[in-house]
Amino acid sequence: MDPVTDWTTDFDITDADYQNDPYPVWDELRAGCPVATSDRRIRTVLPIRWDDISAVAYDTEHFSSVDVGTLPAPSGTSTLVAPPITSDPPFHTAARRILLPHFSPAATERARPHTEAICRRLVDEVADAAAAGDGTVDAAEAYAQHIPVGVIAHLLGIPDDDIPTFLDWAIRIFQSGEPAIIRIATKEILAYFADQVAQRRVEPSGDLISALLEADLDGSPLTDKHLTGTCFLLLMAGIDTTWSSIGAALWHLATHHDDRDRLVAEPELRPTAIEELLRAYAPVTMARIATDDAEIGGCPVHAGDKVLLPFPAGNRDPEKFERPDEVVIDRERNRHFAFGIGIHRCLGSNLARMEMQVAIDAWLDRFPGFTIAPDTEVRWGGTQVRGPRALPVVLQPPTG
Ligand code: HEM
Repeated sequence: MDPVTDWTTDFDITDADYQNDPYPVWDELRAGCPVATSDRRIRTVLPIRWDDISAVAYDTEHFSSVDVGTLPAPSGTSTLVAPPITSDPPFHTAARRILLPHFSPAATERARPHTEAICRRLVDEVADAAAAGDGTVDAAEAYAQHIPVGVIAHLLGIPDDDIPTFLDWAIRIFQSGEPAIIRIATKEILAYFADQVAQRRVEPSGDLISALLEADLDGSPLTDKHLTGTCFLLLMAGIDTTWSSIGAALWHLATHHDDRDRLVAEPELRPTAIEELLRAYAPVTMARIATDDAEIGGCPVHAGDKVLLPFPAGNRDPEKFERPDEVVIDRERNRHFAFGIGIHRCLGSNLARMEMQVAIDAWLDRFPGFTIAPDTEVRWGGTQVRGPRALPVVLQPPTG
């Protein structure tokens, strides 16, 4: 793809510099044209103001979730069906209702002990790895990326031995940027879950997949396509998102020692700080398809256009937040939309918050003086889910 010379009419969210540092582009768009367009792939519209993003998210009549990927589906593939995220009302309401009890605050608390055990094991492994080497470890690779996958595998009732395969799928889907690789990984995941569903039909095992087999949608059991699509969604929605958020939080604390030291000294501030880190480094951008001609912030949109919902840009809108580009770890008023807004608002937000709290607690309690490794450049990436893709840290500051 050609480099971008005009972000207002020819933006490209796969641009590596944009992924690494989108803030100057958002500032430029806000000052000039807050609803950008691009014809590089299918015609795509990028609103970046909070009000415009939330108006689209709420308007399910004109903006459908039938295709929520930020890039067009690879040619020759049909769009994935992964309820509830790929559905519109009224089907969405019923498909979401089935999942809600499994992600309630009470259900989330039941997953806490397992999450704590994962984090305890990981910090031990990280400490051992640092001691065995030169003291540097990659906190994204050795820590953040293992937490959500372990939690969701446990909820779904998947054997621990399959966790590396899950991780590999998540990396291929969210980080390869290669349509052929994404297509193959998607097929593999759906085949894997078809097999898991078939096993539970013969022998239910008290896990989430078994519960979904018992579920009732308007008087009928869920179809196999619905079941495997939902399992795909739960796997993919929970992994890269949460590990990107944990990674972003650790990156911030590794590079802002005042904030790190304050959270070490005042652990009661951590939940507030996590909300601020979610706001400032929100990882997820979603998409909708315009079902009809419409307008966003006064700009025309045509039926069939892809409309991006960059929640991370809305979270830095100066109309909504004071000092939006600063991380204020004790920010009191913080109604961010890192978890989206409207009917598709994140179903796993309780779980994600619990995972972040446990992960940050375990890390800070063990490595209170950790810092970014010297002479490293941390690159951020991702079109749909953005986070630091490598995070080399030194666990204790050098002495002397
Ligand atoms: C920090 C971590 C996470 C972030 C930032 C995040 C963000 C989001 C966002 C922005 C949406 C809205 C999608 C849209 O409007 O189209 C969403 C939906 C969703 N998320 Fe999350 N998510 C996170 C973690 C999780 C986890 C751990 C799970 C559960 C395993 C999960 C499950 C879902 C599901 C099922 C939906 C679809 C809800 C619906 O369509 O009604 N997410 N998430």
